Amino acid sequence: MSGEYELTSQLYDPFLFFFLRGVRHRVTRLLSPFRDRPVLDLCCGTGAQLKLLARAGHTNLTGVDLDPHMLAVARRGGHGFTLLEGDATATGLPAGSFDTVILSLAIHEKPPAARAALLAEAHRLLSPGGVLLVVDFCFDDRTWRAAALGITVVERLAGREHFRNFRDFRCRGGLDPLIAPDRWRPLCDAPAPEPERRLLGGLALSRYEKVSLESRLVLRHEVVDTGSRGHGS
Ligand SMILES: C[S@@+](CC[C@H](N)C(=O)[O-])C[C@H]1O[C@@H](n2cnc3c(N)ncnc32)[C@H](O)[C@@H]1O
Repeated sequence: MSGEYELTSQLYDPFLFFFLRGVRHRVTRLLSPFRDRPVLDLCCGTGAQLKLLARAGHTNLTGVDLDPHMLAVARRGGHGFTLLEGDATATGLPAGSFDTVILSLAIHEKPPAARAALLAEAHRLLSPGGVLLVVDFCFDDRTWRAAALGITVVERLAGREHFRNFRDFRCRGGLDPLIAPDRWRPLCDAPAPEPERRLLGGLALSRYEKVSLESRLVLRHEVVDTGSRGHGS
């Protein structure tokens, strides 16, 4: 068995439980109306989010992760969800087979090409109109300095390559520039017009609806249609 998380897999949940429980419960609440719908956690790690969803009554859960040590922790407790060991940028799973894809704390630690590939795979795997939930770090004027410092220290401890990717993610403006507007439509609940924030503003929960080629064509068709009717009347 080899893997980047060999050492940290045992410490991951005990160390991060307190910091992540709020956002994990929020994800669970957001998905509560869809307990029988297929949910995929890409880069699921120790399966902490999947375990919460399973406890909340979800019956169609799948997790994918590359690291056998993280997956070994995810398997503990026999929660009855499907766990696959593999590359989340190329899962081989059927296109359009999930209504929700979760990417939690995965994008910031990858090099730029892999970040884009993760999002492309999430897009491919979602059904038309399916929803992507991204939990990841966020640094702007709403981020407390203590949060930025704490996150940076933890990321440094995670290893040299991990830290290089994290710094690059942060320098390039985080998640926002990766979200192509022709592929994803932001979903927000009024009165929260922006992604929800946790950890003193250092962690964001962002939601996007998949925009598919078909829906883009329908939209264009509707615009053209409306336009031509407008000219005719
Ligand atoms: C920081 S952990 C986050 C785990 C979990 N999503 C969470 O919210 O706690 C990142 C996870 O991504 C996994 N990972 C990184 N690159 C991957 C890839 N290309 N395919 C599948 N898993 C990957 C790692 O093995 C690790 O378990």
